[in-house]
Amino acid sequence: MSDLPDEFKCTITNWDYIYDLCREVSDDVKAAEFEPDVVVALARGGWFAGRVICDFLGLDDLTSLKMEHYVGTAQKSGEPTVRYPMPEGSVEGKDVLVMDDIADTGGSIRRAHEYVTDRDPGEVRTATLQLLGTSEFEPDFVGERLDEWAWIVYPWNFIEDMIDLTTGVMEKGADGPYTAEEIRGLLREYHRVERIEMEIAQPGRLSEVLEEMARRGIVETVGEGEVAWRLHEDAPSGP
Ligand code: ADE
Repeated sequence: MSDLPDEFKCTITNWDYIYDLCREVSDDVKAAEFEPDVVVALARGGWFAGRVICDFLGLDDLTSLKMEHYVGTAQKSGEPTVRYPMPEGSVEGKDVLVMDDIADTGGSIRRAHEYVTDRDPGEVRTATLQLLGTSEFEPDFVGERLDEWAWIVYPWNFIEDMIDLTTGVMEKGADGPYTAEEIRGLLREYHRVERIEMEIAQPGRLSEVLEEMARRGIVETVGEGEVAWRLHEDAPSGP
């Protein structure tokens, strides 16, 4: 998330919602009468979807490809590269479904499609759970199209993303310490995360995030009555 602007919309999702998107994708795959032999799930965001889609389609051949987006320090390469190649024989001669969570720029899934196609497969098709309007690549199967760009907080990295977002807003706010309610206010102000949205999607989890930030030495608690949180002076820096 490190190269994002200061303010952007975040959407919090949960397992049920994402599981339904997996079902949408596999229904589309079935309707197209595409019968892949293997699913290539892009690490790490495509792993859950790849596993669930194997379940829905009745496949036991699941492999992974890790795409990397950066070269050097904070320098963005236009082209994502493959970090860990696939074991030999993973896709050769097989019909392949390449699966990722989201197409944002579309760079990862496009590059993965190219990488798999270069390895002498049968037919190769692509799928993402969500497709943003910003994507320059159109996957063959899409669970949901989103017109407005947003950062999607997925359930499999809820803690990771919420720590990044919370650290970021606490740095911007500058005059902590903050109570949990004030942190909710900052998340609303900078990322349009409404309390009700967060509590419906991931009930009761802000305190878990704050406790985990304390355990990792990112924040420390202040005061004895109502607990407040401030960034630890030597904290690892935010996004
Ligand atoms: N990975 C790349 N773009 C993303 C987005 N908009 N939301 C969540 N994960 C992403």
